[in-house]
Amino acid sequence: MTVIRSVFRGCGAYLPERVMTNDELAKIVDTSDDWIQERTGIKQRHIAAEGEMTSDLAFNAAAAALDNAGLEPDDIDLIVLATATPDETFPATATRVQARLEMRNGFAFDVQAVCSGFVYALSVADNFIKSGQVGRALVIGAETFSRILDWNDRTTCVLFGDGAGAVVLEGQEGKGTSDDRGLLSTHLHSDGRHHDLLYVDGGPSSTRTTGYLRMEGNKVFRHAVVNLADVVREALEANGLTPDDLDWIVPHQANKRILDGTARKLNLPSERVIITVDHHANTSAASVPLALTEAVDDGRITRGQLVLMEAMGGGFTWGSALARW
Ligand code: UT7
Repeated sequence: MTVIRSVFRGCGAYLPERVMTNDELAKIVDTSDDWIQERTGIKQRHIAAEGEMTSDLAFNAAAAALDNAGLEPDDIDLIVLATATPDETFPATATRVQARLEMRNGFAFDVQAVCSGFVYALSVADNFIKSGQVGRALVIGAETFSRILDWNDRTTCVLFGDGAGAVVLEGQEGKGTSDDRGLLSTHLHSDGRHHDLLYVDGGPSSTRTTGYLRMEGNKVFRHAVVNLADVVREALEANGLTPDDLDWIVPHQANKRILDGTARKLNLPSERVIITVDHHANTSAASVPLALTEAVDDGRITRGQLVLMEAMGGGFTWGSALARW
């Protein structure tokens, strides 16, 4: 049986120039480098410059991904941009990226699933490709969380950073087996009852302000380890695979302890988990493509390997995307 698979043709990433260390944060709030590293694994984060917007970060990552794929903007039919920090309430930040790329074809829109946004966006783009409606899609995760942080709240402001990552997906024929290259499956979940554990206390329809991020971190932590282990098992079972078959897990980079806890629950050696949270902190929808791009660029992820991406975030939302690179 012949099927259409969304094959990864290229990837790229962008981090703003300005680096903020834990020691710098310790001058703003009552925290320490020791506490942050021990509880989260984070050493530093990147912060967007004054006037540098989510669309700027997204554009740079998208341009890098297109370059890596050897393609031009007009080779792309669709842009799906995952973000919880759009430039403006509307239009979609994806359309700004489309304009900056001078892309005259296709269509562009945003997806909002906070930290799971990139996995959701991959799933959306994959379905457009599998249906035959588009041939190639640019899938971007980009955030400027520094703009929605309460810099007086030490329980949240130390955890997040700004950044962007992107991939180019291309429809190619596969045999319909797990040996095919490209996305093998995506699984998405949400449970709106957990709104109060992780949300932003503002928005156009409620307070007419942008608001600040609020989180009950330890409750989110407990849900994250359980949901992420479940969603990994779900992806493996759906494809008739076991944890041993996985070459790499590319998780949402929120906290090193969550990544270690999930790997332990699955009996997966930590050497097969891509960890980049130490140098860019939690970049929400950007974290999976940032980690993916780093591991591809440094030669860890190679063609033909089995890669499982997973994420969990506000909503709650969570999900996985299993791919053969
Ligand atoms: O990406 C979306 C998903 N988000 C996440 O996955 C985040 C999940 N949660 C976490 O990563 C962790 O829960 C945190 C890193 C947020 C917190 O770690 P924790 O081990 O759960 O700590 P805690 O919240 O239980 O706080 C322990 C102590 C508290 O002091 P007391 O009450 O024991 O005296 C906090 O006030 O640590 C204190 N604390 C801090 N101390 C120094 C909280 N934040 C800080 C800080 N510096 N920045």
